[in-house]
Amino acid sequence: MNTHPQATLQIKDKKYDFPIYNGTEGPDVIDISALYKETGHFTYDPGFLSTASCESSITYIDGDAGILRYRGYNIDELAEKCDFLSVCHLLLYGELPNEEQSEWFNRTITLHTMVHEQLQFMLRGFPRRSHPMAVMVGASASLSAFYHDSLDINDPDQRELAAFRMIAKMPTLAAMCYKYSIGQPFIYPNNELSFSENFLHMMFATPCEKYKVSPTMAQAMDKLLILHADHEQNASTSTVRLAGSSGANPFACIGAGIASLWGPAHGGANEAVILMLREIGHKSRIPEFIARAKDKDDPFRLMGFGHRVYKNYDPRAKVLRETCNQVLDELGIRDEPLLEIAMELERIALEDEYFVQRKLYPNVDFYSGIIYRAMGIPTKMFTVLFAIARTAGWVAQWKEMIEDPKQKIGRPRQLYNGATERHLGSKKKMRKSA
Ligand code: ACO
Repeated sequence: MNTHPQATLQIKDKKYDFPIYNGTEGPDVIDISALYKETGHFTYDPGFLSTASCESSITYIDGDAGILRYRGYNIDELAEKCDFLSVCHLLLYGELPNEEQSEWFNRTITLHTMVHEQLQFMLRGFPRRSHPMAVMVGASASLSAFYHDSLDINDPDQRELAAFRMIAKMPTLAAMCYKYSIGQPFIYPNNELSFSENFLHMMFATPCEKYKVSPTMAQAMDKLLILHADHEQNASTSTVRLAGSSGANPFACIGAGIASLWGPAHGGANEAVILMLREIGHKSRIPEFIARAKDKDDPFRLMGFGHRVYKNYDPRAKVLRETCNQVLDELGIRDEPLLEIAMELERIALEDEYFVQRKLYPNVDFYSGIIYRAMGIPTKMFTVLFAIARTAGWVAQWKEMIEDPKQKIGRPRQLYNGATERHLGSKKKMRKSA
């Protein structure tokens, strides 16, 4: 007997019952998997506004309350007290590591930071002016051509090895993309450094000059990585899951995730924020841009504002607002004109009826770009940094999906609106009209 509460759907004069499940937190869900079989109808939900695509125990978001938790821990607490690799361990295994586990995990990831030497030749095939995200899509997916011993998704050890490799190698690939774009030699990882220090080292050291990593920069980088590490079933994570649901190898799935992340409505927004602030150029021009954002005939949107899930201040933006000030202080940047424009834009938008009514608050991308800029990271690399962080979430979600016995190939249906059956004329007639 089914003990779940039921939701009843009436179509014409016939009634159908569907079970309602509740999770540990968040809205209950109506299981409509039998809807088509029982009623001959599909549901219609463009953009998945009301559709839970899977069960997950990794990340919880309450958009109205501005809550984001990984495995039960609030994001601000994790950003304050943990390093990125501990958070990766948490996402992958469900628990923060103890001392011994932490040592093992750090060592394991560190041992996988180098990439196959042959990969540099693939990178060298790209034009130097390529957008680094274009290179990252290709380079990450190409890992499947190099690491044949971690492609069997049915082997738990190989799945784990693929996860280690992806988390470890993404910063190396990212730094290689950057070095290639500016014509500098690639810098090998240094196993004595922490994850974030190592990334900054590979980005900014040269064979002629050591790069002294500032602890404030490394800490800020770690925070940025933690804040971006996972965000439940967003577009790129859903892309990774959907790609993986067919049994595709994990490296190819991450490549698909990076492609999805690139869009300006998703991870590409951090780059778009800086371009927008530059375009605004001066505080005096803010009202003009606010008016454009409100104009329905103008496609312009205020980048870094609004979120599909958060209808409150993005909790990640709260942490970053503070980090942003710390980094600028440490670097002695007192008059950063873009920050000045950003602060004023935030102030005006938060008071404006249009934004208040629609609950459009600054999101994580609003501040991350300003911090990256202060650190000397070029604008085109911003979304790449997001990809390094989100790889942790992608691999955790991919692994969870593969290990879920209810997992099926993802195959949405559609409301068909095209031509009904029609036929070609006779061959002769067709030739004439051609
Ligand atoms: N500027 C101006 N108006 C906006 C903005 C914005 N940034 N965002 C939403 N709106 C308006 C819409 O025009 C719409 O108005 P209407 O009700 O009068 O038609 C209303 O707010 C609701 O917007 P939707 O597009 O329905 O919201 P949705 O949840 O689909 O979109 C999204 C969310 C894509 C993030 C959107 O807010 C946006 O484009 N923001 C700017 C890009 C951005 O910052 N993206 C980063 C997201 S965070 C991340 O991926 C890490």
